[in-house]
Amino acid sequence: MTSKIIIDTDPGVDDALTFLLALASPEIKLEALTSVHGNIGIENTTRNALAVLELAHASHIPVARGCELPIISRSYNSGKNVHGVKGVGNAELPEPKSKVVNQHAIDFLIEKVNAEPNQISVFPIGPLTNIALAITKEPSFAKNIKELVIMGGAIKHGGNATPLAEFNIYADPHAAHVVFHAGIPIKLIPLDVTYQCLLTTADVEEINQIKSPIATFIKDATSVYINFYKQYEGFDGCALHDPLTLATIIAPELLTFEEYHIDVDMSGGISNGNTFADFMKVSKKPANMQVAMQVRGKEFIELFINRMENLCQKI
Ligand code: BDR
Ligand code: CA
Repeated sequence: MTSKIIIDTDPGVDDALTFLLALASPEIKLEALTSVHGNIGIENTTRNALAVLELAHASHIPVARGCELPIISRSYNSGKNVHGVKGVGNAELPEPKSKVVNQHAIDFLIEKVNAEPNQISVFPIGPLTNIALAITKEPSFAKNIKELVIMGGAIKHGGNATPLAEFNIYADPHAAHVVFHAGIPIKLIPLDVTYQCLLTTADVEEINQIKSPIATFIKDATSVYINFYKQYEGFDGCALHDPLTLATIIAPELLTFEEYHIDVDMSGGISNGNTFADFMKVSKKPANMQVAMQVRGKEFIELFINRMENLCQKI
């Protein structure tokens, strides 16, 4: 049985790799992409979503443009230094021939999910603004989503946007608060596991043994991303944060989940955007999500390379 998913995204190098992995995975039916502010502004995240689909011969998949700004703050937090000025490193993407759908991402998400109750899982891999506003606008949306698989947060791990906060949550902590407390089944994929899934320069070279526009894209897109990790984190590789969400469908045995009550700091202080687990159950609140705390990272990277090689044989 294939799983129907919508990816809510701010492409973003690892976001783009997530679409490629979804398209390369027979277990997944990618229903749509919805764009959001994040790694770069909404113009570029939306264009990149369309352009990566074009590159992968998948321009029939609809893209809906979403929110330009977080719920409260009047500016967005760019990840330009990590993902390059256009959001996809040094990659030159084709000019997309297809256009965005004529509906805001919030309404598009509500309509798609409510048309097939309990059938569609949504994978937010950027700031949670679109999802929070869909929940707020139409309460039936939360009831009808099958599941949310969120890339975000840092539970025992340090942050990557601030010492205490992960980028996607930091970029809109108010949205994260709405989503975490909406009663939707959630799987959280935090930095604790994504930092164990590192794609190295040698892995990128291996994929490039096959001559394909997809292989070239992976090389050009990851070059800036890998340089960032080299410079700031001291290793030769980049974390596959967003693609790891798809392991929940294509290789669930690689992830170990624990159930926690997770909350987010939105006080605006030094720990703004920090996600924390009630390990000692002091709040007496029931768990509100499953959190991935361990992963067999090497095996996930092997699976990723394998799927990309298969895709490169076709395109
Ligand atoms: C997350 O932040 C973004 O830079 C990545 O695309 C990923 O979604 C990792 O913290
Ligand atoms: Ca992302």
